[in-house]
Amino acid sequence: MYNQLYQAVVCLKYITTGSKKQYYFLNLSATNAERKRGFSINYVTLSNGVKMPQLGYGVYQVSKDECERCVLDALKVGYRHIDTAQSYFNEDEVGSAIEKSGIPREEIFLTTKVWIEHYSYEKTKTSVYESMRKLKTDYIDLVLLHQPFADVYGAWRALEELYDEGKLRAIGISNFYPDRMVDICSFARIKPMVNQVETHPHNQQIEAQKWMEKYGVQIEAWAPFGEGKGGLFAEPTIEKIGKKYGKTVAQIILRWELQRGIVVIPKSVHIERMRENFNVFDFELTAEDMEIMGNLDKKQSSFFSHTEPAVVEWFAKMVEERKKNNDYTKEEKK
Ligand SMILES: NC(=O)c1ccc[n+]([C@@H]2O[C@H](COP(=O)([O-])OP(=O)(O)OC[C@H]3O[C@@H](n4cnc5c(N)ncnc54)[C@H](OP(=O)(O)O)[C@@H]3O)[C@@H](O)[C@H]2O)c1
Repeated sequence: MYNQLYQAVVCLKYITTGSKKQYYFLNLSATNAERKRGFSINYVTLSNGVKMPQLGYGVYQVSKDECERCVLDALKVGYRHIDTAQSYFNEDEVGSAIEKSGIPREEIFLTTKVWIEHYSYEKTKTSVYESMRKLKTDYIDLVLLHQPFADVYGAWRALEELYDEGKLRAIGISNFYPDRMVDICSFARIKPMVNQVETHPHNQQIEAQKWMEKYGVQIEAWAPFGEGKGGLFAEPTIEKIGKKYGKTVAQIILRWELQRGIVVIPKSVHIERMRENFNVFDFELTAEDMEIMGNLDKKQSSFFSHTEPAVVEWFAKMVEERKKNNDYTKEEKK
């Protein structure tokens, strides 16, 4: 009752002052945090009905030392979707941050990824339970197969079973180019709900996105800024668009991806940049600006192609080296 009265007073104030934030104050289903910042995060609905925040926070290359602080900062800024992986060696710190934040677990969408070394039916199951232990949770919102190599089908059957048991709310893949994705969609019992692939203005994944849409797979962008490679943060075309909206290059890139229906998980260790990357729901790019962004496509990876035999060899070597160094066992002992 008191809350409704408060909202009515605030509504009145914003109607009379004509603020552009008015909409959120008028929206009675908005939370107080959403009203304060003047926008709410968009959600996408996966093929199984699970809702996923379209903007998340990624922790690749966030060191163990910094990760807990970074995730706490991100949660403070308002992010409610965190993307980690077994191979980032920071699941423990992500779990501690979520626990320390005091935010109810069900308000946070948590993703991790199974590393190739843990592929095969048995090893994948064990590794997902290990991820849950580190993340300090008894369920995970989304688990992805990190790479399209080795015993993908054994690993996928393990994810399917964990999904059936309700331990995982959604399951998906990562770095599966259209041919690999169509393969798993065609022959697995349960189709992946998400495919996380490198996507940014220089590698736009237009064709891949069409294939994903055909099979009901949600596209998620890793490296939504291409990690700034190829001078992306100083791209004059994007700077020019940014000036029109009073937004930075990073914000224009994210907004363009969001308007394409892509889930984005930008990473930054700086809270100011986390805020900047979060403030992308209060403006809209015109169709013309979307088209201009479309012209920046180089249609190739800024990193490497997963279809190159030498790249597959590089991954295989990494798996062997990690095994030799006992990297995962060492981590568990910490
Ligand atoms: N599935 C996969 O194989 C895969 C591969 C790579 C990444 N990922 C996921 O995708 C997430 C994002 O990708 P990413 O971390 O590789 O790259 P990214 O988000 O495209 O770029 C991160 C880089 O941009 C900088 N940055 C962030 N915000 C900025 C801003 N507003 N202005 C200027 N610079 C900014 C960061 O620097 P500071 O940190 O210094 O701010 C960092 O160097 C990862 O964290 C991970 O969760 C998945």
